[in-house]
Parts: sequence; structure tokens; C-alpha cells
Amino acid sequence: MEKRELLYEGKAKQVYATVDPDLVIQYFKDDATAFNAQKRGTIVNKGRYNNAISASLFRYLEEHGVPTHFVRTLSEREMLVRRLEIIPVEVVVRNVIAGSLAKRLGLSEGRELPRPILEHYYKNDALGDPLINPWHITVLGFASEGELEEINRRALQVNDSLRTFLQPRGLILVDFKLEFGRFQGRLLLADEISPDTCRFWDAASGEKLDKDRFRFDLGNVESAYAEVHRRICGVA
Ligand code: TMP
Repeated sequence: MEKRELLYEGKAKQVYATVDPDLVIQYFKDDATAFNAQKRGTIVNKGRYNNAISASLFRYLEEHGVPTHFVRTLSEREMLVRRLEIIPVEVVVRNVIAGSLAKRLGLSEGRELPRPILEHYYKNDALGDPLINPWHITVLGFASEGELEEINRRALQVNDSLRTFLQPRGLILVDFKLEFGRFQGRLLLADEISPDTCRFWDAASGEKLDKDRFRFDLGNVESAYAEVHRRICGVA
């Protein structure tokens, strides 16, 4: 599938048009940002790892009844996806207290939650993706009541499926962020699922194997992405 014009450039990916108006190419970069791009850097080979990890997880989710935008892998850094109308709501699912939840409510990191917590953020870089609630989403028209209900149901289904997939691979799914979009009247899971958008902790040691290593200068950033890639994609 031939790459046409650049449609959009985000912090970690580029999106290119194709000859087919319903399909676009996601190109995964090595660029990394944190804290709404106040911190910038490069994680060598991150684009390759995130492309492969996302492809494996999208495939697994599709096989388990979650419709996604993923069509197929095109190259080491590129996947073909459906062209969606993105809903400007980021959904975060949390299984263990960490990150902004710990900070916002003054809680210590690492306690397992009795059941998942769902959060919604308004996808808007200029505003730093503020936390919003279902009232904001439906009253301001970011999504309909029906869409929001489906988004929440799908997010919890993704959580159950991913935890089942990751458990035998020795990875704890602490939390993650999802995006959804509209495609021909259907709601599809969009974006990527990778160590950029999930917190993965090693089940045996509790070691962080995700972008927190970059955010907080913990070292061994590339090797953490490589390890998640090895466990999820099954390559040595
Ligand atoms: P948080 O604890 O910083 O709110 O992050 C929750 C999850 O969402 C975590 O797995 C990382 C992911 N995330 C993104 O994918 N993009 C973002 O911009 C942020 C802030 C978090």
C-alpha cells in the first residue's frame, strides 16, 4: 500500500493517506515526550517495538471480539489502519494505583484496586488533556450517551482480555489509555497499545517495563521496550 500525503503528525506517530480514502498508514516514530511534551527525547527502536506490540495486541483483541482499526502490518514501523473520526476522549483503565491517580489523590503507588477504575480525559494537547466526567462528554457533545456506554464497556472488555493475555507472560497491566473512533457507523478501538500507553510491571520483580522509565529517568528504557516486545511478540 503506497504512502500518500502526511495527514497528521503527533508526538509519537505520523499518519499518511493511501489511495483508499477509508485507509491510512500509521508510522511509529522513536520520538518520546512526557508531561505534555515538556520533556522530549528519543527511545532507540521504540517505533519498531510499538508497531509490533500494537499489532499483536490488536490482533488478539479482534480475535476476542473487540473491533479495532487495525488492518495489517506493512513494515517494521508501519501499520495499515481504518481511517476513523476520532472521538476526543481518552479512556484510562486502572487496575493498580499509579501515575496521576496516586499523585492527584495523595495515594501510594502499587496497591491493587478491588475493581478497575475508569477515567476520561479530553483529548486536547493545548489544554494538557484535562480530566473530565461523563457529563462533560455527553452534554458538550464529544460522544453520545450510547457511544459513551459502548466506549466504557469496550474499555473494560479490553482490560479483561489484555490481563488474560499478559498474565502468562509475566506482565501486570497496571493501567492503560485507549482511544476510539467512528467508522461507517461502528465504534472501533484506535491509536496504539504499547509501553507508551500502558503501564506494564514485571510480575516477579515489580520492575517497571514501560514509558515511566523515560518519564522519570529510571534508565534501561530501550531494554524495557525490548523485553515487553519479546514477551508479547514471542521473539528472542
Ligand atoms: P497517568 O497515570 O499519567 O494518568 O496515565 C495513565 C495511563 O495512560 C498510563 O498507562 C499511561 C497512559 N497515558 C498515555 O497513553 N498518554 C498520556 O498522555 C498520559 C498522560 C498517559
